[in-house]
Amino acid sequence: MSSPVQVALIAALTGEWSSIQSRRFGVLMKVWYWAIATTVATLVLLGVGGTVNPTGSSLACPDWPTCYGTFFPEMTGGVLFEHSHRIAATVVGFMTCILAVSIWRSRPPQRRLRVLAVSVVALVIFQGVLGGLTVIFKLPTAISTAHLAIAMGFFSFLIYLTFLLWPGHGMSTDSPVATESAWRPSGRAHLTRRIAAVAALAVYVQILLGALVRHMGAGLACPDIPFCHGALWSSLGPAQLHMAHRYAGVLVAFMVVAAAITVLREIRMGDLGARPVARVAAHLAPWLVVVQVGVGLWMVARNIHWVPATVHLVLGATLLGSLLVAFLGLGPMAVQAVSTAPDLPIDEAGLVVPEGSAA
Ligand code: HEM
Repeated sequence: MSSPVQVALIAALTGEWSSIQSRRFGVLMKVWYWAIATTVATLVLLGVGGTVNPTGSSLACPDWPTCYGTFFPEMTGGVLFEHSHRIAATVVGFMTCILAVSIWRSRPPQRRLRVLAVSVVALVIFQGVLGGLTVIFKLPTAISTAHLAIAMGFFSFLIYLTFLLWPGHGMSTDSPVATESAWRPSGRAHLTRRIAAVAALAVYVQILLGALVRHMGAGLACPDIPFCHGALWSSLGPAQLHMAHRYAGVLVAFMVVAAAITVLREIRMGDLGARPVARVAAHLAPWLVVVQVGVGLWMVARNIHWVPATVHLVLGATLLGSLLVAFLGLGPMAVQAVSTAPDLPIDEAGLVVPEGSAA
């Protein structure tokens, strides 16, 4: 199976394609790399954002968008965490805007990519405003939880977009999913994809439950392990929420392992067109979820210290991402319809010349 890099190299060495196709491919590759970079930067942003609450820095900057009236405050104490989060968010915001403009300028063959490019910018702006509102309204639970829900949604959206932008697969002759129309999976294969999707959804819901535990102050409601004050359940609300997150964590772990086994079995049977990355993600997910449960317990044992708390959040996002990759890497969604795209005129910079402006 050829990777996009291999395809580009072969094209460059053999001169098999016309220079227009090669350059067009090069442009799409650059946009794709930028989408990957934006997704990775968002994961880093999630990590930086994850340090803010457990270090007690959420209101270290009482105003927004400035911090004590300046964009360059002294980076000490809580301001270091809170303002670093704002800086990281600004970087991701710019990267997202550049991604959207690049998608528009590259005139992608799939029209929906342009709509998605606009949507992703709208989402990042909305998320920024929501972040500001959490500060202005002094961290209400609903807004803080919604902030995490959208952060994870934005991260998932970027993964989806990265798949859609993936060049080369439509060009790769040995790809089992060369075109969307060629993808005719069996009923069982459809079921496998659904199982992966349900596992991803379960992880997302579990992440939101974790956000409620955090923002309703239930993190220390059950200080002992594995039970809550020596009992399986509690009559107190915060402890119930805390234990619900723990039990759900174990349930989700079983779901993730079952989904990963199903996906790997299906890939082995070869009924589904699978990208190598789907196999890697399906191998990774069970390990991630087991470590995640362990880190959850470590966090309780360390009285919600910010280090395990941040690792817990980043692992949660990585787990969600790996299941999405397993799901998207199995189906027609990732198919880049480059091979079916019209050969558009390209300027010196390798960008597509807009209609009507060609000499
Ligand atoms: C699939 C498994 C799990 C996932 C995906 C998950 C995810 C998360 C996430 C993302 C948060 C942070 C939410 C935020 O920052 O707003 C969180 C919070 C939390 N999780 Fe989990 N979790 C899982 C399992 C567990 C387990 C087994 C425990 C066991 C003790 C646990 C304990 C906690 C606690 C105590 C918090 C609140 C931390 C705080 O108050 O700051 N989690 N969880």
